[in-house]
Amino acid sequence: MKFDKPAGANPIDRMRVVGRAHPRIDGPLKTSGRATYAYEHKDVVANPAYGVIVASAISKGRIEHMDVQAAERAAGVIAVVTADNAGKLGKGKFNTAKLLGGPEVDHYHQAIAVVVAETFEQARAAAALVGIKYSRKEGSFDLVEALKEAPLAKDPNSPDKDAPPESRTGDFQQAFSRAPVKLDELYTTPDQSHSMMEPHASIAEWKGDKLTVWTSNQMIDWGRSDLATTLGIPKENVRFVSPYVGGGFGGKLFLRSDAVMAALGAKAAGRPVKVTLPRPLIPNNTTHRPATRQRIRIGAAHDGHIMAIAHESGSGDLPEGQPETAINQTRLLYAGPSRLTSMRLAVLDLPEGNSMRAPGEAPGMMALEIAMDELAEKLGMDPVELRIVNDTQVDPEKPDRPFSQRNLVQCLREGAERFGWRNRNSNPANRREGSWLIGTGVAAAFRNNLLVPSGARVYLGQDGLVTVETDMTDIGTGSYTIIAQTAAEMMGIDMEKVVVRLGDSSFPVSSGSGGQFGANSSTSGVYAACVKLREAVAQRLGFNSAEATFEDGQVRAGNRSAKLVDAVHAGELVAEDTMEWGALGKTFQQSTFGAHFVEVAVDAFTGEIRVRRMLAVCAAGRILNPTTARSQVIGAMTMGVGAALMEELAVDKRRGFFVNHDLAGYEVPVHADIPHQEVIFLEEADDKVSPMKAKGVAELGICGVAAAVANAVYNATGVRVRNYPVTLDKQIAALPVVA
Ligand code: MOS
Repeated sequence: MKFDKPAGANPIDRMRVVGRAHPRIDGPLKTSGRATYAYEHKDVVANPAYGVIVASAISKGRIEHMDVQAAERAAGVIAVVTADNAGKLGKGKFNTAKLLGGPEVDHYHQAIAVVVAETFEQARAAAALVGIKYSRKEGSFDLVEALKEAPLAKDPNSPDKDAPPESRTGDFQQAFSRAPVKLDELYTTPDQSHSMMEPHASIAEWKGDKLTVWTSNQMIDWGRSDLATTLGIPKENVRFVSPYVGGGFGGKLFLRSDAVMAALGAKAAGRPVKVTLPRPLIPNNTTHRPATRQRIRIGAAHDGHIMAIAHESGSGDLPEGQPETAINQTRLLYAGPSRLTSMRLAVLDLPEGNSMRAPGEAPGMMALEIAMDELAEKLGMDPVELRIVNDTQVDPEKPDRPFSQRNLVQCLREGAERFGWRNRNSNPANRREGSWLIGTGVAAAFRNNLLVPSGARVYLGQDGLVTVETDMTDIGTGSYTIIAQTAAEMMGIDMEKVVVRLGDSSFPVSSGSGGQFGANSSTSGVYAACVKLREAVAQRLGFNSAEATFEDGQVRAGNRSAKLVDAVHAGELVAEDTMEWGALGKTFQQSTFGAHFVEVAVDAFTGEIRVRRMLAVCAAGRILNPTTARSQVIGAMTMGVGAALMEELAVDKRRGFFVNHDLAGYEVPVHADIPHQEVIFLEEADDKVSPMKAKGVAELGICGVAAAVANAVYNATGVRVRNYPVTLDKQIAALPVVA
């Protein structure tokens, strides 16, 4: 099915099941330990061996000699695989660095060997016996230095391949110089690590030349394709299985070394092998969110209208890597006739940078939304009003392109009302409660809505159950549940009558989970398959499918009616389809909007920061399930607090690696750190995006949060910190003198 004109009325609009709060149907399995994650499968393979990865101790250079004899002779060892004996390997489309390094080393903790043994402990002990002689090369590890020489970079995701690397509208320089109120500041965001709960892990088994990998991956088809490319085998020979994923945040979008090393280890050992990445390996072996340096200039009239806005961002990556697209939102969020956005990409020999929750907008909003707070102060305007004054209903670069739906102003107004914004003291450092300085802050939320083709297969069985199969993943988001809701709504049955099977490459290719496109895209694929199943049912029953309605387990057309199961007396029915997307995503700018409000308390003596309450108001199309959507948003808000106050991979600029590569040194907040979180969804249904009329919400929840926290801290203390994270050392010397 192709979605190429706005959705009319359809069965989803009834919202008897879709749109209802429903707890996750996989919840009982998870809380009772019966949802098996990648490393935990007990009965999928017989007698697995264990692989432990040896990772590079240098960040750039060459392995001159690797002595594996001691490891090979160690107790229980079955095989040692290195680049020397692995055979010729390709590189996956989505990987920047090779997943098995050697003899050249591209980054610190790049996998360079896997030791396979009878037990994990034997493999680990033997891995420590591998002797390696390196010759180290000088590398580029300092973003500030590397950006001095860095060229302009194109947006790798831009549909317009001929677009110049700088995007200009009007004459920024002239408009900026004329503007009576000006801001020109530099903001920095650090490298961050996904820190998902479940480590990367894979079990690999070969049967002849057929490979099956049980793994933890957000994008089944990408991983399957890239594993086949890496191993140089046909894609059809690889099966990828990932029914449960304990978080990914972009870190599991792509094939990683656990899957490759499990496959290579299993081949060498002649039996199934399981490999996990120990936590201390993850930050340097896998990908991370790249650090940015962002210069923002805004010129405004006295009434707050933006006359000129420029956002220039710099980031780094390995050779042939990609820029962090931190300028995304600045092209679309606020009005203003003269505009300039650009990115620079420096070569760094640090581990590979890549997507982390809301790549682009998450770090971009961290900068832009402090800048808006600073501009409001310069103008003597309320920061909520400044954002409202600069609302636009069209793409500011291409005014003939309207937004499909844009309720940013409503989010800000509703949020201000619910949060009690009017009681705020806009003079910073003016509200005290005992030794606490209290402050409140606001930021807009913005994240684009992406559409990805998504397929599904649905069965109507003689037992009356509808089974959905799609390679969609559930990364803790609620995919199982919203897919069951969609099928139940379409077929007119209770959710209990729907069975959902996910995360297996033997099922139709779905959107996968990423870029907040998963919920809308994958349920649209299920919608398309169900439309076909309804036609097949109507045909079996001899009904005109155009007028058939499906409700309460009954099918009705005209004055005839039958039980749904009557359609399968002669045998089960199967239907399969893929939702494809027409040009509506080009004709209309599809984005999601919100407003974040935060209250913090800062200890006037120590500078310690506590987040006391948070509110998000989101406008993201139809909300398919308010419970799972809320969970996504409060999780994202918590992650945003991490970005604001804690998270920073510390770079060793001499040796070129992330020093704090475990959860003792890289701290992340949890829900319990924030006593009060509230989420409000505006009632919307966006008919330009899909038959579900839904948009993404999971990444919207993080975009803007860190700036709202930083702005609240500023309101509390009067100390403006522009370098994330906002830690007490950056403000303690400047805190107000306490009596
Ligand atoms: Mo998201 S960073 O596309 O998993």
